[in-house]
Amino acid sequence: MNTVTVNTSKHYEVKIGSGLLAKLGEEIAPICAKGTAVIVSDSNVWPLYGQAAEESLSRAGIKVLSYVFPAGEQQKNTATYLELVTFLAENRITRSDCLIALGGGVVGDLTGFAAATYLRGIRYIQVPTTLLAAVDSSVGGKTAIDLDVGKNLVGAFCQPTLLLCDIHTLTTLPEEVFRDGCAEVIKYGILYDPELFDELVKTGMNFPREQVITRCVSLKRDVVCQDEFDTGSRMKLNLGHTFGHGIEKCSHYEVSHGYAVATGMAIAARCAAARGICTRETAQKIQNILVQFGFSTRTDYSADMLLDAALSDKKRTGAAVQVILPEKIGCCQIRSTPVEELKFLLEAGL
Ligand SMILES: NC(=O)c1ccc[n+]([C@@H]2O[C@H](COP(=O)([O-])OP(=O)(O)OC[C@H]3O[C@@H](n4cnc5c(N)ncnc54)[C@H](O)[C@@H]3O)[C@@H](O)[C@H]2O)c1
Ligand SMILES: [Zn+2]
Repeated sequence: MNTVTVNTSKHYEVKIGSGLLAKLGEEIAPICAKGTAVIVSDSNVWPLYGQAAEESLSRAGIKVLSYVFPAGEQQKNTATYLELVTFLAENRITRSDCLIALGGGVVGDLTGFAAATYLRGIRYIQVPTTLLAAVDSSVGGKTAIDLDVGKNLVGAFCQPTLLLCDIHTLTTLPEEVFRDGCAEVIKYGILYDPELFDELVKTGMNFPREQVITRCVSLKRDVVCQDEFDTGSRMKLNLGHTFGHGIEKCSHYEVSHGYAVATGMAIAARCAAARGICTRETAQKIQNILVQFGFSTRTDYSADMLLDAALSDKKRTGAAVQVILPEKIGCCQIRSTPVEELKFLLEAGL
């Protein structure tokens, strides 16, 4: 097992290893010994891992309640949020109790936001069960729910009290969901870590889980500790995301997040090469690894369509958009680009 310590406004540990779900109770006992733990999960994850989580908590003498909602991004909404906090209130959950997010990023974001707001804040524990949640969404304290007008529009910064990543849970992920998370893993390599990048080129999707997830969590930890509230260097984590967001929206979310981000990173690489920010070889290396992992590096959507979809109304004139462009593997720059210029930049990368 590996441990990464996160020293943000709140200090907490991230534990990564196989079989950690069975130790959930003993890990949480110091936090919630006399309280109730409310496991929040979705309809796919609960049947697979709910019982193991419940049993572990009960063995440690912790009272357990569970709240399970239908799987899927559509459920990360105000209705599910209100139902969850109402469930907490009806069961008289207090600040001595805690929530446990058992699932992917949808469960983690929703549970985190409920924890941030219920009784003005109670503690929560992240138990990520997707690769994306393990390396990205569970770390760093961003929590949110979606509105009909857009994703993640209501949320809060709220760090968890503990994060337990049982890599064994990743074995039941559908391949496409696992691949989705791989885009974020590759992103860390391009942003910060040439060694990680080279290792991924060698292993493809068979990378050593514990080691690579630990590396990604450490990298995200470093970023989040520097810029907890996302006003500066944390923006680099958006590599591939501005253009990727456009692709997701244009496809009405038929193209999943990781796939869209992967194509977005390929576009960013070609933009950077066209502007002389990175070499053609670097841009090619980035495209090659994405193809190796089964991603598409091209999109049929036009620059106009992508920008219309990616930018909110208020961003369409006057403002500048921060675009992340690779300089070389392991080093990227934040380029403040006026919206008027963005189209030319994007066209150079399509
Ligand atoms: N808070 C952040 O910083 C942050 C960062 C990135 C993404 N996100 C959010 O994360 C969400 C996406 O997360 P995700 O990709 O984990 O999606 P998800 O939570 O919807 O999980 C994907 C699918 O896998 C299933 N699943 C989860 N674990 C499983 C397992 N072990 N075995 C079998 N099936 C399993 C889920 O039920 C779901 O159907 C989005 O809502 C996004 O906005 C948040
Ligand atoms: Zn992402």
